[in-house]
Amino acid sequence: MDLQTLQQECLACQRCGLCQTRTNVVFGQGVPNAEVLFVGEGPGASEDEQGLPFVGRSGQLLDHYLEAIDLSREKNVYIANIVKCRPPQNRDPLPEESKACIPWLRQQFQILQPRIVVCLGRIAAQQMIGPEFLITREHGKFFDKQGTLFMGTYHPAALLRYPVNKPAVFGDFVALREKITQVCDHTY
Ligand code: URA
Repeated sequence: MDLQTLQQECLACQRCGLCQTRTNVVFGQGVPNAEVLFVGEGPGASEDEQGLPFVGRSGQLLDHYLEAIDLSREKNVYIANIVKCRPPQNRDPLPEESKACIPWLRQQFQILQPRIVVCLGRIAAQQMIGPEFLITREHGKFFDKQGTLFMGTYHPAALLRYPVNKPAVFGDFVALREKITQVCDHTY
């Protein structure tokens, strides 16, 4: 199974109620051999319209952070979300929606076999790292789970609301760059 084949299946998904309100499934975007996987919460309005992750205002901010450490979705990373369809009014995904959708992410993870997973925001970090994960205390730390390193940082949309956390996120990205040089083969 490759990502393209999985995407074709995912585009027809009807595993939860979000399929009735979505414009597009936002499967993910990036290079097929990415060693670094970024995971957000779920599509917003712009993503739902375009069918691509992180293309709205928070996506532009994410792209700046990526560029600062020589990463980009065109060149060397993959970006996906916990839920692939937009929750109406940008509410948090319901537990049953996340539960129905996460097998898609798990398959993306199995195909990519990334060395590093960066969780953007609380929802992704608590889902991927552990339910007790606290962004304020544990952002920028790497957790080894069966050979894959997981790190959580603030969500770019949260940074738009609270720019005071921007230096902390920049620090997390500098730490990410260092970790990539240690554990990745071809990202740089
Ligand atoms: N916020 C997310 O969590 N994911 C997106 O794709 C866009 C905004």
